[in-house]
Amino acid sequence: MEKKRILTGDRPTGKLHIGHYFGSIRKRVEMQNSGDYDMYILIADVQALTDNFNNPEKVRKNVRELLMDYLACGLDPKKVTIYIQSMIPETAELTVYFSNLVTISRLQRNPTVKTEIAQKKELFGESVTYGFLGYPVSQAADIVTFEGELVPAGEDQEPLVEQAREIVRKFNNIYGDVLKEPKIVLSEGKRIKGLDGNEKMGKSLGNAIYLSDSEEEITKKVMSAITDPNRIKKDDLGNPDICMVAYYHKLFSTKEEVDTVCKECKEGKRGCVNCKKQLAKNIIEYLRPIREKRAYYEEHPELVDKILKEGTAKAKKTAEKTMEKVKKAMKLDYFE
Ligand code: TRP
Ligand code: SF4
Repeated sequence: MEKKRILTGDRPTGKLHIGHYFGSIRKRVEMQNSGDYDMYILIADVQALTDNFNNPEKVRKNVRELLMDYLACGLDPKKVTIYIQSMIPETAELTVYFSNLVTISRLQRNPTVKTEIAQKKELFGESVTYGFLGYPVSQAADIVTFEGELVPAGEDQEPLVEQAREIVRKFNNIYGDVLKEPKIVLSEGKRIKGLDGNEKMGKSLGNAIYLSDSEEEITKKVMSAITDPNRIKKDDLGNPDICMVAYYHKLFSTKEEVDTVCKECKEGKRGCVNCKKQLAKNIIEYLRPIREKRAYYEEHPELVDKILKEGTAKAKKTAEKTMEKVKKAMKLDYFE
């Protein structure tokens, strides 16, 4: 049986943190290792430019950073195809054709785009760019260029995949049944909160642990995590339910450790400093293989380039095949 095609990826705008890891990367590695899928992973530099057009250096630098994070997490270029979005002109071409199949008001109603525009007032002022408003069209083209059937991603990507499905349905209605409607595969891992208890983890909030953080950085960040504010002395009775350290223990520590942490905290038999030290140690161990693998690629930039080049060359061939089908369906196949 033919393997199902997966298309997924990320914007190269910064290093990946543990929120990304639990939110989507871990699931991709699992899907890769199952051997059941033909997976393409895009490094979405074109999409990154839609809100970083004034900062090309940042996008360029983060293409390699993102690849190193992927490799460190266990994505294997022998098993999956990792490519650079801007080097597949077929996707840009398909974006143009798709742009006829979506209305401006539909894009304006897209919840993810709406939220993002609200957050980017500083960049866009009162009026958003055509490129940013239209990035869901380009994302639909990302998926369809590779005939992606499944899109493993976090729930913030749901409206984008829904938009892609609508475009595909419209395409098929008009030009014939040639494209597959993609489906999102939600990572069952929940979204993890920042060390400060904020729902969102991110660089600007300073509440994230990065996959590339050193042992010292991890320790420092954990020591600054928000604990039960009512606990001042060691024997004050605590409430682990409102403590970020307990929350992170549940992600990185064994079940026995978590039980002990909660029990001792509630009984006022546990010091927060020790509790944090133990957590830092567990996170450091958990991330060790990732950190070490990443360091290896940092020392071998020529390998990073080679992987990008080979993945992109393979992706280009697949994209050309799809575009042939698309153009034929659209009566744009003028010459043999
Ligand atoms: N929108 C995704 C992000 O914000 C990146 C992305 C671009 C993507 N094209 C995609 C994800 C296609 C899945 C499928 O990181
Ligand atoms: Fe949090 Fe641990 Fe302190 Fe309890 S003992 S409040 S779980 S850091």
